[in-house]
Order: sequence, then structure tokens, then C-alpha cells
Amino acid sequence: MTSETSSRKLEHLKMIVSSMVEARESTLLEYVRIVHNPLPESNLDDVSLEVDFCGGRLKAPLMITGMTGGHPDVAWINRELAIVAEELGIAMGVGSQRAAIEDPRLEETFRVARKAAPNAFLVANLGAPQLSLGYGVREIVKAIEMIDADAVAIHLNPAQEAFQDEGDPYFSGVLAKIVEASEKAGVPLIVKEVGTGLSKEVIAALRAAGVRCFDVAGLGGTNWVKVEVLRSKSKHGSPLKPAGPLADYWGNPTALAVMEARNAAPDAYIVGSGGVRNGLDAAKVIALGADVAGLALPAARSLMAGGRDAVRRLLSSIIYQVKASVFLAGELRVRGLWRAPIVVWGRLREEAEARGLDVDMYVRVLRLQALMYKEVK
Ligand SMILES: Cc1cc2nc3c(=O)[nH]c(=O)nc-3n(C[C@H](O)[C@H](O)[C@H](O)COP(=O)(O)O)c2cc1C
Repeated sequence: MTSETSSRKLEHLKMIVSSMVEARESTLLEYVRIVHNPLPESNLDDVSLEVDFCGGRLKAPLMITGMTGGHPDVAWINRELAIVAEELGIAMGVGSQRAAIEDPRLEETFRVARKAAPNAFLVANLGAPQLSLGYGVREIVKAIEMIDADAVAIHLNPAQEAFQDEGDPYFSGVLAKIVEASEKAGVPLIVKEVGTGLSKEVIAALRAAGVRCFDVAGLGGTNWVKVEVLRSKSKHGSPLKPAGPLADYWGNPTALAVMEARNAAPDAYIVGSGGVRNGLDAAKVIALGADVAGLALPAARSLMAGGRDAVRRLLSSIIYQVKASVFLAGELRVRGLWRAPIVVWGRLREEAEARGLDVDMYVRVLRLQALMYKEVK
């Protein structure tokens, strides 16, 4: 009954939960230290994690980034994740809504999120290749209305499309379509990657064209080349499009992608994601310049393993660790982490410098940017 797009979503989810689908390459977050402040001159309870994000306000700087919907068997996942997002006051994205645009009977698998989370910041989702192949503002508005979304994410996933058996590696004309959509969508448009990382060149081009929200989704976490190669292997014995080392090492590592994003779009909202696995990772991506941290795979895995309670426990402990990090950096607000002293060394510093980023200058400018926020002063 369900379309090919729909059954692929289900296959992905099964594979991702049970297989090794994370890149061998790291996020490079191990080359960042937030300097410990042994005399914070404040109380832990005074720390507020509230933060503005793409026109909304979150109780904590965290987002469950888009994963699922589009198959009857996965509707419960969107519902359960949305319930937890609502409880914790964090943002949540649904997965690509293409399947429901193709077959309206699947709309309910996305609508459940809004029903379960009347107040949460919810993000609709469609893929760039669909824009190249004919989708436009009409489909984007449909996706937004489907879940009464606060924002819409357009995902850029060229690496995944290049290695998927039935992939659509079509990206010509996408930039113009994104620009048109961001003007006409009626809600903020977020451009996101899916685990191979945005770059400063792409962010600068999009920012110049009016896009103001980005989710870097860098290398070091879920790797879609790996997922597609495994999926192809399980079907055909060996992958139809072998990826070799690209499955582990192609992409822009998360820590670097966050710095490039803030550098290329100083006034943008930035989600630091891709391999964020705990509250320290989350605090580090924020200290590097993100507004909020995002994660996908750990939320799906904990939900499958232990249900709603497990996801709540996981995300609550991440939020508490971020709160403790803000306190231990001697700050009271999330963006205080932008001005907290940090150390950036090793490969991250070298790669950033090789990409034309003066790391010490970057850190100084970020400190000044923190002062633009009334809450931080
Ligand atoms: C099961 C699963 C399904 C996903 N489906 C989508 C999707 O439909 N649209 C999208 O933009 N990103 C999708 N992603 C990518 C995530 O939003 C995220 O960018 C990526 O997984 C990196 O974060 P992580 O390392 O925390 O998983 C999916 C990720 C997972 C794990």
C-alpha cells in the first residue's frame, strides 16, 4: 500500500537503530575545552537555559533534529519524541515529509507530532533534491501546514543521494528554489545538512540570499553514506555504489562546521549538530558559536530501547549537563558560553586556519557577539 519513499524510511530506521552507522571520523570536538571557572560567583540555580531560536523561544538550547514519519509503523516515534519535546520545552523536527506529499494518507504520521506537542517549536522537513525535481513553494507550504510548523527545514544531502541505490543526486537549481521558499514560506527556513556538514561557502551564499537559520549537521555522527552502503549490501550482497573511505571520512566535521557557519553568517541562528552525544558536546558546540545543539540518532536509539522514559532521561541529563557547563564556565545564560574562555588546539585549529579562519580572532569576535545579547550583559 505504501510508496517506495515510505518503505525506505522504515528500512532506514531499522538499519540505523541496529547497525554501526556513525562515521569513524570524529566531530573534532575533542580539540575544544571550555576553561573551568573555579570561582563562578553565581549559584547553579541562577542559570537559565532559555534561548531565542528562529523566531521562537526554547526552555533549553536543544533540538531533536528531523528523523521520521512517512510510514504507518513510525508515527508513534514522532508522537513520543514530540511529547518529550513539549515537556522539556525544546525544539523538534520531523523527518522528510515527501512521502506524505506523495500520499496524503501518510499525513497523520507527521500530524501526530503537533497533536502531541501543541506548544513545542516544531520544524517541517523536505529535501533539496525534491526542489530540483519540481517541488516548490506549494509543497513547502503544505509541509508546514501539515504540522502547523514554526519553521521548515530543507535538507541538503548530496552524499546520501550519491550512494543510495535509488538516489536522486539532483541539486541543480536548488539555491534559487531555496531563496524563493525562504521568501514565501511564511515561517523561518532552516537549511540543514544530514551528517556531512555545511560549509562556509554555502552558508555565505545562502545568508547573502536571505536565509538566516542553519543546522550544520556535521561529520562525526550518523553517516548517511554508511547507511546507504549498508542498506545496499543487505539487499544485494555487496553495495551497488561502493563508497570506500567516503563512508567514514567524507565531510565537514561538526566543530569546524559550527565555526565556519558563525564566521560566514554572524547574525544567523545556528544549530550545532552531527555527533552531539552528551551535554558536554552540546556545551562545546554552543561555546564554538552555535545557538542550540541538535541530535538525532541518540534520541531514536533511546526511544527504541527504553521508550519515552528513556528519551526523557537522556535529554534531561543532556540539558542538566549544559546547565552545569554554563555554571562552571562562570556564566548565567546560554550565550554566555560564547564569551567564556575556550581553548582550541590540534587538528581543529589547524583545519580552521587552513580554511582561512584566524582562530584567536574568531574567539575574540564571538566574545563581542555575546555582548549583543541583553541577557548576557
Ligand atoms: C533515523 C534517522 C532518520 C533521518 N531522517 C532525516 C530526514 O528525513 N530529514 C533530515 O533532514 N534529516 C534526517 N536525518 C538526519 C538528522 O536530522 C541529523 O542531521 C543527522 O542524523 C546527524 O545527527 P546525529 O549524529 O545526532 O544523528 C535522519 C537521521 C536519523 C538518525
